[in-house]
Amino acid sequence: MSIKSASNDYPLLTHLKERWSPRAFDNRFIEPAKIRSIFEAARWAPSGFNAQPWYFITGLKGDETYDQIASSMVDFNKLWATQAPLLFVAIAKETGPKGEPNPTALYDLGQSIAHLTIQAMEEGLYVHQMGGFDADEIRDNFDVPDGYKVVTLVAVGYLGKPDTLHPNLKPMEISPRERRKAKESVFSGKFGISSNLF
Ligand SMILES: Cc1cc2nc3c(=O)[nH]c(=O)nc-3n(C[C@H](O)[C@H](O)[C@H](O)COP(=O)(O)O)c2cc1C
Repeated sequence: MSIKSASNDYPLLTHLKERWSPRAFDNRFIEPAKIRSIFEAARWAPSGFNAQPWYFITGLKGDETYDQIASSMVDFNKLWATQAPLLFVAIAKETGPKGEPNPTALYDLGQSIAHLTIQAMEEGLYVHQMGGFDADEIRDNFDVPDGYKVVTLVAVGYLGKPDTLHPNLKPMEISPRERRKAKESVFSGKFGISSNLF
């Protein structure tokens, strides 16, 4: 249990209870076998028509890919995410085999990252996703083809110490996580009418 453990109302798997998105990462490198396992988890996620519309560009701290990913971040994210030993870009293929739009591509990409995140917990690793970056810069730097949407950046690593963070970021690192109640999201009968299961 930590300050970040979910204060869940109903039972949860331990990895779901304990998962959170840290900003302080340890500078310890990640064993390559663990990196392979987290992408294996992404690979085995379900997807519409089994299209597997997820693609990833990975950078390890010290390599050029890492630096290019980091340089696309908004300043706020640069403050913390450049501590992480692994950064990657998450990309969705927006069309199916005949060039038709794939309406679930983003959903499927998100689900693959969700699976990756839980496998990461099993490996002792933490994941922090980011929307704050310049997707056009990523597209240009990595020659991402048309029809592929650059969606998020993701930082992965072992937990670090909150004291290593910029002082503005530390309070977020040591405050509890919050969620609205399930009944505010789970409806029955009509949108907005809470299910009586909760
Ligand atoms: C798609 C997505 C984009 C996010 N973008 C950012 C970001 O740019 N910077 C950041 O510090 N956190 C970002 N986050 C992290 C969220 O703020 C965080 O997941 C949320 O506050 C819930 O906290 P928890 O993951 O610790 O439970 C993002 C998360 C997701 C899923």
